[in-house]
Amino acid sequence: MSIGVCYFPEHWPSERWERDVEQMAEAGIEYVRMAEFSWAVLEPERGEFDFEWLDEAVELIDDHGMKAVLCTPTASPPRWLVDERPEILQRDRDGTIKHAGSRRHYCFNSPAYREETERVVREMADHYADDPRVVGWQTDNEYGCHGTADCYCEDCADAFRDWLDERYADADELNEAWGTTFWSQQYDSIEDVDVPKPTPAQDHPSYALDFRRFTSDSIIEYNRLQTDLLEEYNDDWFVTHNFMNLFPSLDIYEMGEDLDLVSWDSYPTGHVQEAGESSHDELRAGNPDLLSFNHDLYRSILGKPFWVMEQQPGDVNWPPHSAQPAEGAMRLWAHHATAHGADAVVYFRWRRCLEAQEQYHAGLRKQDGSADRGYHDAQTAADELLDIEGGAGADGDSEGLETTDSPVAILHDYENIWAIAGQEHAPDFDYWALLQSFYRPLRARGVSVDVVHPESDLEGYDAVIAPALHMVTADLVDRLTEYAESGGQLLFGPRTGVKDEYNKFRPEPQPGPLADLVGATVDQHESAPGHLETTVAPVDADGESDDLPYRTWAEWLNPTTAEPTFEYTSEGITAGKTAAVRNTVGDGAVVYCGVQPEARLGDELIGALLERAAVSHAGALPTGVRATVRDGVTWICNFTSDEVTVELERTGEETTDWRLGGPELEPFDLSVADGDVIDRLSVSIDD
Ligand code: GAL
Ligand code: ZN
Repeated sequence: MSIGVCYFPEHWPSERWERDVEQMAEAGIEYVRMAEFSWAVLEPERGEFDFEWLDEAVELIDDHGMKAVLCTPTASPPRWLVDERPEILQRDRDGTIKHAGSRRHYCFNSPAYREETERVVREMADHYADDPRVVGWQTDNEYGCHGTADCYCEDCADAFRDWLDERYADADELNEAWGTTFWSQQYDSIEDVDVPKPTPAQDHPSYALDFRRFTSDSIIEYNRLQTDLLEEYNDDWFVTHNFMNLFPSLDIYEMGEDLDLVSWDSYPTGHVQEAGESSHDELRAGNPDLLSFNHDLYRSILGKPFWVMEQQPGDVNWPPHSAQPAEGAMRLWAHHATAHGADAVVYFRWRRCLEAQEQYHAGLRKQDGSADRGYHDAQTAADELLDIEGGAGADGDSEGLETTDSPVAILHDYENIWAIAGQEHAPDFDYWALLQSFYRPLRARGVSVDVVHPESDLEGYDAVIAPALHMVTADLVDRLTEYAESGGQLLFGPRTGVKDEYNKFRPEPQPGPLADLVGATVDQHESAPGHLETTVAPVDADGESDDLPYRTWAEWLNPTTAEPTFEYTSEGITAGKTAAVRNTVGDGAVVYCGVQPEARLGDELIGALLERAAVSHAGALPTGVRATVRDGVTWICNFTSDEVTVELERTGEETTDWRLGGPELEPFDLSVADGDVIDRLSVSIDD
């Protein structure tokens, strides 16, 4: 478990490099990532490659005992290339060209750009093929960042038609599959299908879903061009790509099959602002559940340790507000990521830049080259992680900690995101927020969670949660039924079993082919704005329990074999209707919850689920304090400005060794206990 940094030697005079690299080594840095935007420096003129500067940087890095991770430079095609082949530029939906002058201005389907990509990747891969100082590669940089997943150019239109040709025999089959009789949208030929253009009303949802699938496939194909080339030159390199916070436009499970390592870019004080209003503590350190959801997702893609390829080093330039992170936050983030399965945390960037778009973005070093707060945090984290790992395993053989076997899985996939996006049916409906309303109460009890594709093997999980399984296949129904029959605990959320694979309503009532398993059908659905009070209560509450709020989405259920468990208590026509049910199936049970739960309802549902599944867990942790086990080591991370105290219930003689810190945590501090102490753990906020 180690620390790295992203370095841009090309931004600084070469006389400075040695000093920089020395200071990296002094911080305990192990990996240095470089070159992702350096095409114009590497190839200032067509065919004239200059590797001297990068060779020198790689050599300095090696001299100081560190390893280089290089990037293919395709995220920013140089101006001379754009001038020569302007057809590589992306187009907006209205046809506007996205010109050079920033980055990511190329089209994934452009045959010209694919040719140029092959040329530059070959050149770099060939240059470093036998160089042991380069250990791995990142392809490109953040596919789809700045809204660049979609392109609407002529090359994309051609590629989309080819994509459709492979899936549909002819226009008749396509018309039938999508249902184009509505509003006279029939196509006479697949040749007539275009990329989305400005239209008066919303796009046909089946067309929109196929366009999203096509877009994702295009990026995957483009990336595969790069991974195949890198592998051709040196099979020992790891190849990764740096993904983003909750990124919806790319099927990362599928792209993961072409990667050796998954990584993502973590900017906690930025992401939390994207998610809505943030508290004071969140502005300083982010939201631990939002971060760990990403960590858990990216770990689950390949089921093995991941990297944070870019870690926020201090203040950043791009969120609406640019708060200074809390004292120690940069250290806290590195530990929190490691607890969730990161093997390396690479800070972005080394030094604050004196020019261009990201001047208002901190580095580990200030613009004058002196150490900034992030540098001290990174140095501390590097030291501590080495120590913690050193303690791992009785034989002292520190190969790194394994990932944890999570008892609970949340089913998540991109096709369902795209299908729902075609008809969200409420401005504030958010697929990711729905998932997190089930995820958060699990984390509030320290439970480890995998975020997995519905097609993955569910056998090892004590409980499986499917918050919005919008489209279901017959095969998935069989597998979920078998899972419950053999003793599994299933929890479905709303908007499940609604559509077929073309994003069309099924003729039978929701949840369609899951109706027998759920033991209920959906009679009606509705969405409601957030300012209305919407509540449910347990069916057997006898008026004693409080009303529990839900939001945005509600389904009225008709139980067949299932027991009603929650009913609507909001006034009006919903009152008394069934909101959730539980069905006994074989040795297991299936719960269907027809609403998007707010915190207390989520907590009730998850508490009951864990009890039925006999999953051991911590006592309810305060908001912002989280505990995570990795390979027999427990991290307790305090994302709040309060001091907190950890209590560990004594069972018999055992004592607790602390690998780091102890039971008293300062604000934004952390402790690491030896052993899996989750089921003995509780935390209180000091007065
Ligand atoms: C990332 C990107 C980096 C840099 C960083 C700033 O999204 O990959 O190149 O722009 O944001 O926070
Ligand atoms: Zn295009």
